[in-house]
Amino acid sequence: MTTPTITLTGVQPTGELHLGNYAGAIRPLAQLAAQPSRETYVFVADLHALNSRPDPDRLRDRTRKMAAALLACGLDHDRVHVYRQSRVPAIAQISALLANVTSKGTLNRAHAYKALVAANTAAGRDADHGVNMGLFTYPVLMAADILGMRAHEVPVGADQTQHLEIAVELARAFARAYHPGVLREPKAVVAQTGGVLPGLDGRKMSKSYGNTIPLFTAPAQQAKLIRRVITDSRRPQDPKDPDTCTLVALLDTFAEPAAAQEVRGRYRTGGIGYGDVKALLAEQLHMTLTPMRDRYQALLADSARLDAALQAGERRANQRATETLRLLSAAIGL
Ligand code: TRP
Repeated sequence: MTTPTITLTGVQPTGELHLGNYAGAIRPLAQLAAQPSRETYVFVADLHALNSRPDPDRLRDRTRKMAAALLACGLDHDRVHVYRQSRVPAIAQISALLANVTSKGTLNRAHAYKALVAANTAAGRDADHGVNMGLFTYPVLMAADILGMRAHEVPVGADQTQHLEIAVELARAFARAYHPGVLREPKAVVAQTGGVLPGLDGRKMSKSYGNTIPLFTAPAQQAKLIRRVITDSRRPQDPKDPDTCTLVALLDTFAEPAAAQEVRGRYRTGGIGYGDVKALLAEQLHMTLTPMRDRYQALLADSARLDAALQAGERRANQRATETLRLLSAAIGL
């Protein structure tokens, strides 16, 4: 048996997932995790969320919902381990050890921190106004997530590449200061752009634009949102360009390929109205998402089952991270 590729990624417990999150991150991850050569660790980054000091009940709720969503979206077989970051204490311990091989200058250059400093400076405030150490050391904790699990590859969005570079930098710094070969240098697997899913207004679907369609909301509510998708004013009989239409992009991503192809054909010749395309899209979304929505709701309704799934993932993650901590501690002289 060849040793599996260890794939790892984390997701912040943000609010409701939308279609763009699913198509851009969760579905590709589930497809990667389905390959028999991989073993996948996926966690909800509840410790990372703390730097914005969320309301405790809301954090708990969002963490459970995100974990249930991951499991419901196909990350629920025996080669994937879903866990809550905070339930793997070795990660925080590894983060504390890595802090000693992290130069402050590296963190000064981290994008999220730099953006805050720039905003403060522009507003004439103290440079570090509103910056807590959780935010400043975010990249160190993220390196601990990755290095602690000895991941080979980390699927992330393009906005996370600097964090991956910092994780590699810390692995190298540790190797230089103490012992090569203890920490594995991870590779980023950056999602290819171009496949950006448009939202209700045609811009990239994103919470910050308020143009999202929630993934697990009721089908009737999704249908209502789809009726609001902005189209041009071409009439049913007019030919239309399928490649610039939000509805077609959504069909390409979520409908059966034959249904999407048929609509594309009818756009070119004319003979289909946007109202009918919207109805078809709502129906196709319903078909595609209902099994996942059902699993999601069943998990949230049965907390013992959700807990059991997470505890299984947490057992595996704890084994791996504790082993890394043991190796690090020995190398450091603890
Ligand atoms: N910073 C990532 C994000 O905001 C979440 C994250 C935390 C993560 N730890 C990680 C991603 C480790 C990959 C690996 O999306």
